[in-house]
Amino acid sequence: MLGSRIISLAASAAVAFAQTYSGGFDGDWDAAYSQAESDVSRLSLSDKIGIVTGVGWSQGPCVGNTHAANSIGFPSLCLQDGPLGVRYATGITAFPAGVQAASTWDKKLIYDRGHAIGEEAKALGIHVMLGPVAGGIGKFAAGGRNWEGFSPDPYLTGIAMIESIAGMQDAGVQATGKHYIGNEQENRRDTISSNIDDKTMHELYLWPFADSVWANVAAMMCSYNKLDDTWTCEDEHAMDELLKEELGFKGYIMTDWNAQHSTVESANAGLDMTMPGTDFNGDSIYWGNQLQSAVQQGQVSEDRVDDMVTRIIASWYLTGQDQSYPPVAFDSWNGNGGPDVSGNHDEVALAVARDGIVLLKNEDNILPLSNPGSIAIIGSDAIANPQGINSCADMGCNQGTLTMGWGSGTVNMQYLIAPNDAITERAQQSGGSATTSGNDDANQGRSAAQGADLAIVFINADSGEGYIEVEGNFGDRNDLYAWHNGDDLVRAVAEANDNTIVVIHSTGAILMEDWIDMAGVKAVVWAGLPGQESGNSLVEVLWGDVAPSGKMPYTLAKTAEDYGTSIVTAGPDNFEEGVFIDYRHFDESNIEPRFEFGFGLSYTTFNYSEISVEGAPSAGPATGPTVPGGAADLYETVSTVSLTVTNSGDVAGAEVPQLYVGYPSSASGQPPRQLRGFDKVMIEPGESADVTFEIRRKDLSYWDTDAKQWVVPEGTFTLDVGSSSRDLRSSGEITV
Ligand code: NOJ
Repeated sequence: MLGSRIISLAASAAVAFAQTYSGGFDGDWDAAYSQAESDVSRLSLSDKIGIVTGVGWSQGPCVGNTHAANSIGFPSLCLQDGPLGVRYATGITAFPAGVQAASTWDKKLIYDRGHAIGEEAKALGIHVMLGPVAGGIGKFAAGGRNWEGFSPDPYLTGIAMIESIAGMQDAGVQATGKHYIGNEQENRRDTISSNIDDKTMHELYLWPFADSVWANVAAMMCSYNKLDDTWTCEDEHAMDELLKEELGFKGYIMTDWNAQHSTVESANAGLDMTMPGTDFNGDSIYWGNQLQSAVQQGQVSEDRVDDMVTRIIASWYLTGQDQSYPPVAFDSWNGNGGPDVSGNHDEVALAVARDGIVLLKNEDNILPLSNPGSIAIIGSDAIANPQGINSCADMGCNQGTLTMGWGSGTVNMQYLIAPNDAITERAQQSGGSATTSGNDDANQGRSAAQGADLAIVFINADSGEGYIEVEGNFGDRNDLYAWHNGDDLVRAVAEANDNTIVVIHSTGAILMEDWIDMAGVKAVVWAGLPGQESGNSLVEVLWGDVAPSGKMPYTLAKTAEDYGTSIVTAGPDNFEEGVFIDYRHFDESNIEPRFEFGFGLSYTTFNYSEISVEGAPSAGPATGPTVPGGAADLYETVSTVSLTVTNSGDVAGAEVPQLYVGYPSSASGQPPRQLRGFDKVMIEPGESADVTFEIRRKDLSYWDTDAKQWVVPEGTFTLDVGSSSRDLRSSGEITV
């Protein structure tokens, strides 16, 4: 599918840079299966068991390693974290986090980021990368690991999964869709039961995993939590029925690390690989010899084991790893970080960091800066961690500028361009000067801001994985406020300086009601989680080398209660909010957000033409044969929506037109608006770009819980195209 992608790019280049991506990875499962099946027929039972069982925690160079089957030349597979780059290696790129990739809304950049991660992984001999992340999708604003994934919108996350998987697997590494499924919080993550009704499961949580299967993802990771009181990694409904039967998933399901609780039940429910093979103490071995005995005693059929192994070997063929794949060139545990494999990936890292920056407020056009004079840079989030940029294991601290959250989804940085350094250098180049107050004390911030022509104050909020506690936060955040009394710092600075710019690095939404309307707060820049190129990306936007073009991939609320969900601290999570998370909830309940989903300012302005709509699906269920992703016709284009976007301002800029669909009333229980298309177009001043959204049958279907099918309802769909979920510019209809 790479071919069609290139052709459509070339065809659209005449107008402006319009993207037609999202083709997925072009893999031939049939060919891969026939090669794998012939291999499996030559394997002993113990070789088969070795392929499905990890060698044990820290017993091989990677965070997960399988046993080699030398009789057929099948290697020990190396499985490594994680979703923003290669964990425990030294010569790698620290890419922006998934959520930052999502805030670019740029399919090509998301693909490029995935491809670059895949290239680095392959060069280090990693067969399987443990990412990208589609769950937790982010139903809780305070969810500790939301930043590893993309967005609480399933469509945006689905497209980001497709692009990331295609990029990674085109580079030769197997991608892993994780964490499947219902792992929305860190609090009690390995005991909580996520009780998700069928509609919510399909329309929200399963949706991006279905797109991942459609993109031919090689692997999936079942999650720590339970589903309706059954461990996800032994849940037949989740693994066998949903993933393998309904979605036609042909790859393999591995456990999250130590998420297995049984030998027989897990095998018979559809689990294909146990990782890391033991618990973190080398105990709790459920497969290996135990599985061998279960087969010998007839509790697990050898056919089931053959199926596990076939899926694993087929995925290896699917991604071409039988063709002289490089050997593992690093070790996670002994300080051997491997060779430098980063190439020119700093360019992709910079582009994603920069184009994911969201400009939230810009009074009096204070940005972009031209001759800023004297700048006061304020806050510990402006400077590199004085203890060293990698001084905290798995980034398990919040000192200095925040580039990523904490936990297994982090990497060590080769270098970090801190905001302070980049701004100071740029200020001097543009004839000004900068001073830095690199702490969070409000009084010191006030003094630093007084008398400066401009103050740039940095605040942040951090979160991560529950095995590390940071400043009293056990993974999930305790609240949605900026850390280190950031609100006090901003208020003090903005009282002292009328030209205050607030820069925020955060793993998720923060509340900004304490200062957002202050007259001194002229600009607010959401810089997200930028990775190693933090300072460079920020400076390019602040000084207007490029106009900001990121859009919020989630809602910024006025109060924590407005989200309608909060971390469940006791008992099961019954998912009572159903599909109404993030903007779906704000729209349904008529709650005014501070900044809505899809919002982001530019240094230029855009006009939207009327839209034209072509084609309509037939009413009724999807009936096609099952392909990877589900019924084949779900993925066919049934309608196209086109419009022209014109840059009506003075500088070049990229815009993200967004298509929102409202369902006819015959489909009850649907949110008022749902994202069902987006594109990103770079447009010169005075020029226009043609934008076309291809709407799949899936995008106009709802899950019929009685018929257990995707159904296109009869009636009239409303279409709204706009610059955010609440700045809707042109509308139309599709009548079915
Ligand atoms: C547990 C995490 O949930 C998962 O994302 C990660 O891949 C494994 N640990 C391995 O580090």
